Amino acid sequence: MNVTVAPGSGFCFGVKRALKIAFEAARKHDGQVATLGPIIHNPQVVAKLEEEGLSVVGSLDEIPRDGTLVVRSHGLPGEILERALERGMSIVDATCPFVKQAQDAAARLEREGYRIVIVGERDHPEVLSVTGNLREHATVVEGPESVEPLGVRGKVGVVCQTTQPMEHLRAVVDALLPAVRELRVFNTVCAATLERQENALELAARVDIMLVVGGKNSANTRRLWELCKEAGSDAYHIETADELEPAWFEGKREVGVVGGASTPHWIVDEIVSRVESM
Ligand code: F3S
Repeated sequence: MNVTVAPGSGFCFGVKRALKIAFEAARKHDGQVATLGPIIHNPQVVAKLEEEGLSVVGSLDEIPRDGTLVVRSHGLPGEILERALERGMSIVDATCPFVKQAQDAAARLEREGYRIVIVGERDHPEVLSVTGNLREHATVVEGPESVEPLGVRGKVGVVCQTTQPMEHLRAVVDALLPAVRELRVFNTVCAATLERQENALELAARVDIMLVVGGKNSANTRRLWELCKEAGSDAYHIETADELEPAWFEGKREVGVVGGASTPHWIVDEIVSRVESM
């Protein structure tokens, strides 16, 4: 079987940066160094980081007052950061600069009197970090079908979760346009995400089977897999080489592999060599 890896697979700029900052924090700071939730949505990488001294906690109360909170690439709501400071904890900010741009764009639109609509997944940590840095309640929509029941009118400002496909943003904007008096849109979809999605689709169109590699809890990896499926590809979402099933490859010659933004190269390499040896 021939195996082709989509260009640009694996860690994106924001993930590489967050991991570097987190490693440095674990090395430099005394006391417990922790993230609230996993620093990236990849269980294998998070396990490695724990060995290096970066722990994952579910609430601030689990970090001692002399501890350090590393803000992961998705960012954190302002209220949590304030509570960490009140507790006297140190904060190391590894928020991806593109996520920061989305937070800032939403805050600016709110200051200018727009009702905020965020295109994305309601419970995704990045979306929570954007809504959690606003004064008022923001509306999160997952697609154009959610727009009409909202009855939004007047001045509406739109930002998008960085890992959403451009079609989602475009569809929501199309649905809003006839209903509102003024519409302001910040295209906060990350260029690396778009490029990865395009590369995956281009590869999926010319192989017999597509392996989409990344955490099952990773939104961007899940979207890659959904896009490949929607394009009619025989696609499987896996985290590690151990999930490969020989039956998937019967009668197949060309295999495509794409890694999500939080997928390390060593996992992609292992999958490629396992498939090649089949
Ligand atoms: Fe940042 Fe884009 Fe990665 S928003 S975390 S560079 S996918």
